[in-house]
Amino acid sequence: MKWSRQLIQTLREVPADAEIESHKLLVRAGLIRKLAAGLYSYLPLAMRSLKKIQNIIREEMDSTGAQEIVMPILQPSELWRTTGRWEKMDANMFKLKDHGGKESALGPTAEEEVTDLVKGVVSSYRQLPVCVYQIQWKFRDETRPRFSLMRSKEFLMKDAYSFDTNPEDADKIYWTMYGAYKKIFSRCGLTAVPVEASGGDMGDSLTHEFHVIADAGEDALTWCESCGFAANVEVANVPEGGPCPKCGAPVKTKRGIEVGQVFKLGTKYSDAFRAVFKTDDLKEETMIMGCYGIGVSRTLQAVIEQCHDKDGIIWPASVAPFQVCICLLDPGVPEVAAIAGQIEAALESQCVDVIVDDREERPGVKFKDADLIGFPVRVVVGAKSLANGGVEIKRRADDKSKTQIVDPADAVGAIVSMLEA
Ligand SMILES: Nc1ncnc2c1ncn2[C@@H]1O[C@H](COP(=O)(O)OP(=O)(O)OP(=O)(O)O)[C@@H](O)[C@H]1O
Ligand SMILES: [Mg+2]
Ligand SMILES: [Zn+2]
Repeated sequence: MKWSRQLIQTLREVPADAEIESHKLLVRAGLIRKLAAGLYSYLPLAMRSLKKIQNIIREEMDSTGAQEIVMPILQPSELWRTTGRWEKMDANMFKLKDHGGKESALGPTAEEEVTDLVKGVVSSYRQLPVCVYQIQWKFRDETRPRFSLMRSKEFLMKDAYSFDTNPEDADKIYWTMYGAYKKIFSRCGLTAVPVEASGGDMGDSLTHEFHVIADAGEDALTWCESCGFAANVEVANVPEGGPCPKCGAPVKTKRGIEVGQVFKLGTKYSDAFRAVFKTDDLKEETMIMGCYGIGVSRTLQAVIEQCHDKDGIIWPASVAPFQVCICLLDPGVPEVAAIAGQIEAALESQCVDVIVDDREERPGVKFKDADLIGFPVRVVVGAKSLANGGVEIKRRADDKSKTQIVDPADAVGAIVSMLEA
């Protein structure tokens, strides 16, 4: 991929409304652009990363047996009146009327919608258990949208919903999802910790939030270093330095970014919708539900909040917009351009995605931009480096002293092993 043909615009200046590093970097690296408060456009670099995160989520969800669906964003008010949340969640919902006066909301979540759907499809225990998920835009009228993608009015969420015939199976899928979340976040290059939390508007029973520990996080967490106990302060009820509820050691407080949450819903929604099934002796029973959300766009930003330095983003290879950036320093010299082209083609044949910075820019500009956007591996191909015996390769995470000069013939192997490290 040629840089000169990509819609990429990096910025030197920091956006005035950016309070945290990841917000500054998202804008400065040309990943997103603000339309209005809490509303952002995703540019091609951001889309590449967002798609990679979605693919990781899809693979892990599919491997639990969950099935992908998609439901309308526009949800009729009757769905919400069935559970009483039309009034209860009013402050958070974008509500509108069509020309006939029918009321709807832009979905902030989809428990009602999915319960209505599954009730219509499932009638027998033979069709259960079932778990469905979607990756769909959600809308919330946040009183304080901030930090760009972290708390926006429109955001991408993965929401999964499970339906079971008995509490044991409901418990099993809860922990299966919990395990899948651990895998998803670690494959995204994130350290996310599950913490005990409260159900909020969703339900009242067991729930865990997954948090990326970061000073910029909006949630306060109670943390015990000796036994590993972790809970949102909303539920922990222990002040900093107070005794850990599990082991008695003094607890600490940390801040976290909530990237996901798993809930046991019980029959709260299935009761309201009469989502029942027939047992094998033809009795009617209520389905037992769970719901499992991931903030996909918030996760993108959490990766940046956790992986950056003073020069820019340091993408984990799994979710980088491009894994390798070839800085072509002399695009006008045919032999040099040919070597860059060969390395690019060889990497692509190994499914490594590469961007070649073929712009007519000074080397300093190219290096600064490569560091700012944060491609995991940078390769410098220029007349000077070739005269010095080859091409220069360096991991974004390493400092200059670790730069290797390798023969062009060995470059691909060296780059691939850097990406795997
Ligand atoms: N306004 C938002 N912007 C971006 N992501 C969000 C927003 N609200 C929620 N999310 C993401 O969607 C996931 C699932 O939604 P959930 O209903 O659990 O959110 P929430 O607990 O209300 O979030 P928060 O407490 O941060 O407002 C959250 O874990 C979070 O990652
Ligand atoms: Mg939550
Ligand atoms: Zn403890």
